[in-house]
Amino acid sequence: MTPLLQGNTAVVGLQWGDEGKGKIVDFLTESADVVVRYCGGANAGHTVRIGPNKYSTHLLPVGIFRPQVMNLIGNGVVLDPEALFREIDEFLAKGVAISPANLRISYKTHVVMPWHKAEDEARESAAGAAGIGTTKRGIGPTYADKMQRTTAIRVADLQHEDKLRERIQRIATDRNKMFAALYDAPPVDWRPVFETYRDFGRRIAPFVDDTSKLLIDALRDGKRIVFEGAHAVLLDVDHGTYPYVTSSNCSALGIFTGAGVPPQAIQNYVGIMKSYSTRVGGGPFPTEQPNNIGDYIRERGNEYGTTTRRPRRCGWFDAVAVRYAVDIQGITHIALTLLDVLTGLDQVQICTAYKHNGQRMDYFRADMDTLAEVEPVYETLPGWRGSLSNARRFEELPKEAQQYVKRLEQLAGAPIKLVSIGPDRAATLIR
Ligand code: GDP
Ligand code: IMO
Ligand code: MG
Repeated sequence: MTPLLQGNTAVVGLQWGDEGKGKIVDFLTESADVVVRYCGGANAGHTVRIGPNKYSTHLLPVGIFRPQVMNLIGNGVVLDPEALFREIDEFLAKGVAISPANLRISYKTHVVMPWHKAEDEARESAAGAAGIGTTKRGIGPTYADKMQRTTAIRVADLQHEDKLRERIQRIATDRNKMFAALYDAPPVDWRPVFETYRDFGRRIAPFVDDTSKLLIDALRDGKRIVFEGAHAVLLDVDHGTYPYVTSSNCSALGIFTGAGVPPQAIQNYVGIMKSYSTRVGGGPFPTEQPNNIGDYIRERGNEYGTTTRRPRRCGWFDAVAVRYAVDIQGITHIALTLLDVLTGLDQVQICTAYKHNGQRMDYFRADMDTLAEVEPVYETLPGWRGSLSNARRFEELPKEAQQYVKRLEQLAGAPIKLVSIGPDRAATLIR
């Protein structure tokens, strides 16, 4: 790991996702021993650029590109085996080594079934404009079944074929009734589903392990662990902008249940924060700029979803939201990303507070009706010109860019230790 960090590190998003977690996890895992994903599923999309190669991961931890790293998919993830094997096959074809020597999956992890994806799709279509704007990867319905219990399937269940057959038959019969009643959908034959998932179970078997035990052993042995967050705090099902959130505790608060480790396991909480705001899908977004500023950011930042290719909604940096994200997750370090994207603007704006019903509001409220009514209070700073990409030290950046970073740091309430000025591993300044 970089000399910057001793001990174990959580890497989490401070906004609405796509902050560049993939890039920073990759940067921080140079000498890590273990990388673990603890939440979400194939709704995540993390991009890593290594020289001329660009990789997008959805389920695999980003440590997969570092030969010395053991990668774990924790129990808090919802695993779509079809998506997993597609990703594994794609990377194998590109020469990335993936085997049980560097990948293990928790036997407690819940499995995304075809009816979960169908339900996600059907609910979103039926809701029309009132939908959440999900990735349609079956995430919400799989977590709903996890809580429901009797209609869930875990990785461990794939390993017991006779019971799996009965289970799939029973659940499919139940789902067919639901789909017919709610969406007038034709019934699904459970047999091919069973055969497909039985085969997935056989392929996945060598990877299945007790990942919580592996982590606890790694802790005892003094190994370096990186906890790779997906999504971000404002998409956390409890602490985000509910109901426009994903269905997991994807903030740092979900690490202990999602990975199966005690709270003492982590010393560093690195928050990834982009230099502006984006969000994909529906929900309140106080600093959104549906105008030429938003378009400028989208085109320069290539702000199109890694998973769904949807154009991301873009806007100014929201310090009210980020302060909340820093507080609630106990952020010890910040990595600021995508600073280069703002280059060329005459002025940059920062939302420092909200106004609500004529009153100043300094603290974030994760209530969508309130957020839909707030008006951002902006502070304006001078912009900067010229490429940032040649800078090798923070002090080499244009002084207006430095001033912007220092102001963000003051407002966020935690030290900005890394500044990313391009997608590549090398385009990272340590402060
Ligand atoms: P994640 O979901 O948080 O891992 O982020 P994504 O990978 O979905 O989106 C971040 C995008 O920004 C990716 O295309 C990255 O390659 C890119 N990126 C990361 N850091 C920087 C940066 O500092 N500058 C630029 N221009 N692109 C970056
Ligand atoms: P990473 O890890 C950005 C959003 C979706 C939608 C909402 C619910 O790449 O930062 P879901 O399919 O999870 O039920 O959709 O959450 N969402 C993300 N937005 N980045 C992500 O992940 C996201 N994961 C989910 O767009 O609004
Ligand atoms: Mg992403």
